[in-house]
Formats: sequence, C-alpha cells, structure tokens
Amino acid sequence: MHIEMKGITKYFGAVKALENVNFTINSHEIHGLMGENGAGKSTLMNILGGAIQPTEGEIYINGDLIEKMTISLATENGIRFIHQELNLVNDLKVYENLYLGEELTNKIGILDKKQMIENSKDVLEKLKLDIDPSMPVSELETSRKQLVEIAKALLFESELIIMDEPTTALTNTEIEILFNIMRKLRDEGISIIFISHKMPELFSICDKYTVLRDGLFIESGNFKDIDEHIATSLLVGDRVIDTEWIKEDKREEVILSARSLTCAGFFNDVSFDLHKGEVLAITGLHGDGRSELSEALFGARHLTSGKIFLKGNELKLTNIGSVMKSGIGMIPRNRKERSIIKDLSVVNNFSVAYFVAKHKKAFINDKKEIKRFNRSRQIIDIKTDDPNNYITSLSGGNQQKVIVSRWLELDSDVYIMDNPTQGIDVGTKFEIYRLINELSQRGKSLIIFSAEFPEIHRIADRCFVMYKGHINAELNRDQLTERNVMYYATGSNTEGINGKIS
Ligand SMILES: Nc1ncnc2c1ncn2[C@@H]1O[C@H](COP(=O)(O)OP(=O)(O)OP(=O)(O)O)[C@@H](O)[C@H]1O
Ligand SMILES: [Mg+2]
Repeated sequence: MHIEMKGITKYFGAVKALENVNFTINSHEIHGLMGENGAGKSTLMNILGGAIQPTEGEIYINGDLIEKMTISLATENGIRFIHQELNLVNDLKVYENLYLGEELTNKIGILDKKQMIENSKDVLEKLKLDIDPSMPVSELETSRKQLVEIAKALLFESELIIMDEPTTALTNTEIEILFNIMRKLRDEGISIIFISHKMPELFSICDKYTVLRDGLFIESGNFKDIDEHIATSLLVGDRVIDTEWIKEDKREEVILSARSLTCAGFFNDVSFDLHKGEVLAITGLHGDGRSELSEALFGARHLTSGKIFLKGNELKLTNIGSVMKSGIGMIPRNRKERSIIKDLSVVNNFSVAYFVAKHKKAFINDKKEIKRFNRSRQIIDIKTDDPNNYITSLSGGNQQKVIVSRWLELDSDVYIMDNPTQGIDVGTKFEIYRLINELSQRGKSLIIFSAEFPEIHRIADRCFVMYKGHINAELNRDQLTERNVMYYATGSNTEGINGKIS
C-alpha cells in the first residue's frame, strides 16, 4: 500500500487549517505525524479517512487518483481510524460497539451474535484485556474505553491504521502492549500513522516523521536522523520555549491540611499540609489511588473517613459547588469524558465553573462573558476564530486550554490539576508550566497529579510518591530524581530486595 496526499488545502469558513500539504505513507512503516495543537494533524487525517473533504488537493492510493474519498471508500481500501475523541456508544455492549455499522450476519441475514462475540474475545485477548464482550461500555473506565476503541481498528483486516493520540488515557503498561501490537502489524506489512505529543513515544515506535506547523508542511524524514531537540525546533519553529526558574522553599503558611483521608479500596490514611505558594506534585503508578485522591480532595469522591481543612476551617465535602466556592479549583484528567460539554460553545464551556462559583446575577451578559474569555486568552492563547462555535470545532489541545482557563477564571486559593497537560503540545506545555509558576508566585497553592517525570521535575517544590494507596515517600527538590520516583513508586523500599538508595 502506498498512499500519497498531494497539495491538500482545507478551509473551515475563514480558518485555514491546511495549506498545500504533501504527505506520503508506505507499507511496513509507522509514521509519526507531529505538530503543535491546531497544526492540522487531525484535519489531514480526517481528509484521508474520508470524514471531511479537502478544499483542494488529491489523494492517490497505489498510484490511482481517488476522485472523492468517503468513509466507506476509505474502509473498502482498508483504512481504519482511531479517532482523537472517544466514539463509543455507552449504552451498547462492547461487542456491539466493535461491530457497530459493520455487523456480521449469517446466511439468512440474521445478526451472528455468537461469531461477533467470539471474534471480539480474540481481539480483546490480543490486547491482553480481560473485558467480557457482552458487558456494556458504560461500565468501563476511560483507559479501557480507549483500548476498546483501538480493538475496533484491529478487528478487521486493514492496510493502514490511523491512530490520533491513542495513548493519552493509557497507562505505561497499556502503551507497551499497544506498541508491541503496532510493531507486529508493521512487520506484517501494515502502515500505521501515529499522532502523539510525547517525544519518547514517537522516538520509540515510529520509523518516519512528518511535521506540520500552522497548517503548513514543514518536513518529512527518518527518526533515526534526528533527536528530540531537532524535533522540538521543527515543531515550534524559532519560538523560544525553554525557561528555567528558581524554586524556593515555601513551607511557611499552611493553606490546606488533609488529615487521615481514607477511601476504602483506593487510599488509606493520607495526611499532608499544603503551603501558601507551594507546588506539590503527587505521582505514582497506575492503581496507586492517586486519581481517586484527587477527586476526593475536590469533594467529587466520598471519603470513608478523614477531614480536610482549608485555612483552618473544615471543608464540607458533600457538594462540589460549595468546595469551589470555598476556594478550590480542579482540572480533572481525561478531558474527553470529564470536562468537555460537547453541546456548548467554546465560551460557554469556558464559563461553566465561573457561573457555579462566582456569578451572582440572574442573567448572563454575553458581552461580559466574551470579554472575560478574551482577557483569559491573553494568559493562555486559544486558537479559535469564533468563541461562539461549538467546543468540538477546536483541536484537542485547544479544548484542553479552554478547560485550564475555565478554572483560572475562578481565582481559587488552591488548584488541583490532574494530568493538566494531556494532549498539549511541547510549546504550550511550557506555557502551562510558566503559568503554574506564576500562580505560585502570586501565592496560589497547587497540587499537580502527574505521571510524567520531566513535568514534575520542572514544576514541583515537593513531590509525594504514592504506592498502593498511601504516600510512600516525600521528596524535596534535592531528592527529586527519576530513579528515586521509580524506586518508591514500585514499592522497592518496603518490598524490594535491594534495600535503601541514596
Ligand atoms: N470542524 C471544524 N470547524 C472549524 N474549525 C476547525 C474544525 N476542525 C478543525 N478546525 C480548526 O482547524 C485547525 C486545525 O485543527 P486540527 O484539529 O487539525 O489540529 P491538530 O493538529 O489535530 O491539533 P491537536 O494536537 O490540538 O489535536 C484548528 O485551528 C481548528 O480550530
Ligand atoms: Mg488533533
């Protein structure tokens, strides 16, 4: 299979998403498609998958011009698409989702349930997933939904699989399983297009790269000929992004105290103090209870026992609205499922937290709302031509930026951020880090839940490493090394054989 996209241009109204882009992919190839948020990656892939039509340009498959690419034509040609946003129907069973629109029927035209369940089982096993094909999708947590989405692409014979940020919701183990499958498929001759903002992933799995910037084709080549520095410069152009700042010990005034927090089955007896202006990172491996802790701190998960004090007063955790009003803001993980309200516009999505916690009037003043939105765009730039458009018209990373600004608007004392840079490009990541630093300079306190060591190292004054539902170690800046984090995250200090490390 050899696919060529030539001179692709795409306008959405007045927005130019792509201009004269060329892209080629061959069999036996994993091709990394790179670019900052809004660079045009998903748009280019949606054109290849027949979901949208280009304003100009041509697609050739094995040398033949495709007059008009449609979803069904793409499918006929063996093109499979794992979309950036989840596309599963929650009310349907897993196998029904896998076969949605492509149901198997027997000789007399009746749905062949047995065969579909059988095949679904096989493909889930390939992904090492112990999911019963007959269970409803609604009962799966996000990362497993993402894996079902991936399974859907693997279910049918294919020539090309497009993966648009498939790993953002996955754990490291799940990513490794996925990568092994990808390598196997490539060796069988299948082409894969892989979109990710994570450099280590791109460098470990991809053979070739193509970089887009602001809708323009920048460069294609082999990953073996570049390193992460070169890749970053290709992505951001001549913008300067990397700044270090000085971290100082800020442990004076206590803002928030957690006392013996327990949530049965997830975490146990967690106590700590958060100080004014402090950036506290909490990390660990999958299943460490970290996510549940982040929810509990915001009143979104019921505590079995324990208390939280904010500026000396006990927090009433029964209602998220009242937690917000007390001065705690939260950026939850998994934007796709937890943050975005798909039927609302960009500006309404931006405003929802403000209306819950701050708005006092009975009516909403549209002009003021837009004004607040524009002011916050000066802090984090959101790429949109009209804030009254649906949020879903934004690129994935720009949606995440809307969510971040939503919470900054509240001017809370404490910000809890769970995986705040999910789906955000390298350049913007540094903007968010700078922002976190500025918030802390202004006396705000932050608790950042993250599994990315470089991120933690850049922003944290102090770091807790969780293991099996408790805080296994507290590391200050001097002790904050990747090795230490791994050591405590795996429980090696209590269960390992090699004793203590320095
Ligand atoms: N349906 C749409 N309507 C209007 N504008 C759109 C639509 N889809 C995409 N755009 C715009 O086209 C540009 C490219 O978006 P695209 O989703 O392709 O970016 P991306 O490279 O996938 O970014 P990300 O990494 O954030 O997902 C953005 O400016 C986006 O707002
Ligand atoms: Mg995208």
